[in-house]
Amino acid sequence: MSIAVFASGNGSNFQVLAERSRSQQWPEPVSLLICDRPGAKVLERAEQLDVPSASFIPKHYSGKAEYEQEILELLLRKQIKWIVLAGYMRLIGPTLLTAYSGRIVNIHPSLLPAFPGKNAIKQAFHYPVKVSGVTVHFVDEGIDTGPIIAQVPVQIDETDTLESFAAKIHRAEHQLYPKVVRDLITGKIRTQE
Ligand code: GAR
Repeated sequence: MSIAVFASGNGSNFQVLAERSRSQQWPEPVSLLICDRPGAKVLERAEQLDVPSASFIPKHYSGKAEYEQEILELLLRKQIKWIVLAGYMRLIGPTLLTAYSGRIVNIHPSLLPAFPGKNAIKQAFHYPVKVSGVTVHFVDEGIDTGPIIAQVPVQIDETDTLESFAAKIHRAEHQLYPKVVRDLITGKIRTQE
């Protein structure tokens, strides 16, 4: 049994999770990357780390159900127990939600329920709020909704630029996500089934 990370873009969270699952010898390591965008940087990272990856391009399928069914078949073949979303910019549909009930988590770069959806870092910076942060939550059918597992605050200082604030958010993500995922697979955090 192991973890599949779903990602669409850069893949810094994927990389930290994959590296940490090896260096700390997690009982269930990151053993698969699922990507929905050809050419995404995360695919290069997977290759460098020797983590198998599979690309599924949504427009090649008749709809979300068929797209997710193909992914599900691979996950089951590979004995994947957990789905960890890391910058996967797509809603999870009923096919995967039903099969992986309580075993899908997501990271979002704000203190939810503030700033859900896309560009959360930019939205918080330009609002402007004084404190934003990072949230890890179980996934349900909504956009960045679902029971919250952990949150950490990140300050927006007067000297911050969007870039420096974004860097602080990513550092917080890279610290928080591996810790939460490890607690989940080792049973320290209860699933929401
Ligand atoms: C991360 O900041 C993650 O929180 C965000 O995408 C980024 C992916 O970065 N996810 C969302 O906004 C989900 N709504 P990465 O590709 O470098 O890991």
